[in-house]
Amino acid sequence: MSSKKLSKLDAPKNITGAEKVLNENDFIVSKTDTKGNITYCNEIFAKMAGYSFEQLIGANHNLIRHPDMPKVAFKVLWDRIQSKKEFFGLVKNLCADGGYYWVYAYFTPDLDTNGNIIGYTSVRRKPPQSAINQIIPIYKTLLDAERSGGTESSMKILNELLDKYDFEYNEFVINLQIGANL
Ligand SMILES: Cc1cc2nc3c(=O)[nH]c(=O)nc-3n(C[C@H](O)[C@H](O)[C@H](O)COP(=O)(O)O)c2cc1C
Repeated sequence: MSSKKLSKLDAPKNITGAEKVLNENDFIVSKTDTKGNITYCNEIFAKMAGYSFEQLIGANHNLIRHPDMPKVAFKVLWDRIQSKKEFFGLVKNLCADGGYYWVYAYFTPDLDTNGNIIGYTSVRRKPPQSAINQIIPIYKTLLDAERSGGTESSMKILNELLDKYDFEYNEFVINLQIGANL
């Protein structure tokens, strides 16, 4: 068996429309080092993503990055967790077979007793369909903006959207998760 660690460069190129749906009571859990390399994941994670534990442990978390996800979502994620803040996100993830699954994800930094960041943890649940339906066109707009004007352009659109509702990113996502019609 090869000891090469996987990353998004090894992700499937044949993106399909095959959706996997989490069960109502499932939690997907993973932990990473400070660079986003997976140090732990639970069985449901491996099952949904479609990789073995051997493939996942040590792999970069971007292995399951879906091309429909705008860069700006991950920028906000990393800005927050590196500042020792929590982050909530609606994430479309890529499976090993080219399919996908949506999650409502919570991310938090792991701190040592001196308050230094030693890694990160994420826990995810099934989002309601209403949240997925609302975030899809938003991500598409952000992605289109990134294709023409880079992350600066998608960040501007995201900030305008959040200003419109007077929400912080986390509040916006939590509202979608609890069924708000924004
Ligand atoms: C604890 C933790 C969990 C993460 N979970 C995911 C995930 O489920 N899906 C995902 O695409 N990125 C996840 N990320 C973000 C990735 O590290 C990465 O920023 C993202 O996939 C974009 O990768 P790229 O900038 O290399 O394209 C996670 C990061 C951390 C710290």
